Amino acid sequence: DCGEDIIVVSNRAPWIHRATPDGIVGERPAGGLVTALEAVLAGQGGCWIAHGSGSADRATCDARGHVLAHHLPGSYRLRRLWLSDAEVAGYYDGLANGALWPLCHRAGVEPRLREADWACYRRVNQRFADAVVAEARSERPVVLVQDYHLALVPAMVRARLPDAVILTFWHIPFPEARTLARFPWRAELMRGLLASTVLGVQTAGDLARLDAARAGMNEPPGGAVARAYPISIAWPVQEPDAVAAAHTRIRNRFKVAPGVRLLLGVDRMDYTKGIVERLRAFALFLQQNPDQAGRVALLQVAAPGRTALAPYRRLDRTVRVLAGRINRRFGRAGYLPVLLHTGGLDAAGVADCYRACDACLVTSLQDGMNLVAKEFVAARADLRGVLVLSRWAGASAELAQALPVDPRDIAALSEAIGAALAMPPGEQGARMAAMRAVVREHTVFRWAARLLEDGMAAQAAVPATA
Ligand code: G6P
Repeated sequence: DCGEDIIVVSNRAPWIHRATPDGIVGERPAGGLVTALEAVLAGQGGCWIAHGSGSADRATCDARGHVLAHHLPGSYRLRRLWLSDAEVAGYYDGLANGALWPLCHRAGVEPRLREADWACYRRVNQRFADAVVAEARSERPVVLVQDYHLALVPAMVRARLPDAVILTFWHIPFPEARTLARFPWRAELMRGLLASTVLGVQTAGDLARLDAARAGMNEPPGGAVARAYPISIAWPVQEPDAVAAAHTRIRNRFKVAPGVRLLLGVDRMDYTKGIVERLRAFALFLQQNPDQAGRVALLQVAAPGRTALAPYRRLDRTVRVLAGRINRRFGRAGYLPVLLHTGGLDAAGVADCYRACDACLVTSLQDGMNLVAKEFVAARADLRGVLVLSRWAGASAELAQALPVDPRDIAALSEAIGAALAMPPGEQGARMAAMRAVVREHTVFRWAARLLEDGMAAQAAVPATA
């Protein structure tokens, strides 16, 4: 209990409303972050501010953008901000995903640095900050700012509410100082973030890079307390018997013959995820192990997004071409080696995939955390299945019993696929049990609690200005 109203501010909303032939339906994006922050808001009272992008988002709001109570299952206020197409193009596609995303991930895509996008980003951040000020019910609200879309919001809120407790979390990798040096507006970006009370990043490595970037600037004293808070998931209800049913459903749905073992990839269609490397490694594995053709398939779930940007459209084409090539080369009647599913899958469908597979391949070239790795482990109450995990994903710092890979090394990745398929059940169980203990202990609820506790402690150390 922090005795204050809490305000969460993020680009993406915890609820999106869509118009369908059957009327308006509310959709909640999958993931632990929304679950945890909704629980905090419900317990404490407060408001969530986010961009409204659903086709029925306006129809479910009052004139000020507050979602009407009967459309909101959670017991908090949800305030939507309406961004124009030009604002989305400059702030979200342009600066956030065209510049900051590739800058912060080492994945071979050049950041697109345009002055006009930065100006738009600044304007939109100001709109979010204004909404925070409008929603605050005291001089000292607790404001939880999410991610690289909103880096300037902390300073903008601080300028109007000097005593606010501002807890900012940067979900993606924090760049090296020499990478950040390529970003023309780095000083303003850093000043924006460092106006937070607490600035959280995912891992010790991110924290070291943040500290290095900080050391290079003339920061006034009393700036943000920076710490690592590895994000996680809500530990799901455990269903040990769910595995057999999931097996049947997935095999029927994707037409996998009974004797074929299953490798799994679950990602957004993003160039940081190493999907191309994974496909190449799987092709190499089939080439070097001809007896395995017909015995193992790769189910790749890839959710499309950010398609306004050329690198995302290029990746989509590359992945389809590569999957087709592998299927022509190694496929036969009744057997497709690569099952590419880009149609989207709900949380239950993804959980089925986790339970039905023999190994889950997380091969990000770089990744802030990667919650697929944690979700997979949490889904395997049967203690079976192997996690192949990139050493460049934040999760690898916690999940030490995964099979570690450098996804750029295609031959090593192909060998890791072989090792995963050959691992005896006893070893699978021992590794899985150890990883499950870590995830069960460090949930997203604990993540939120630690952030809030540190915020309260930091604030208590500073006297109010009034
Ligand atoms: C990934 C990142 C998050 C980010 C999200 C945005 O999940 O880890 O930090 O907020 O992408 O995705 P979107 O689909 O909204 O562009």
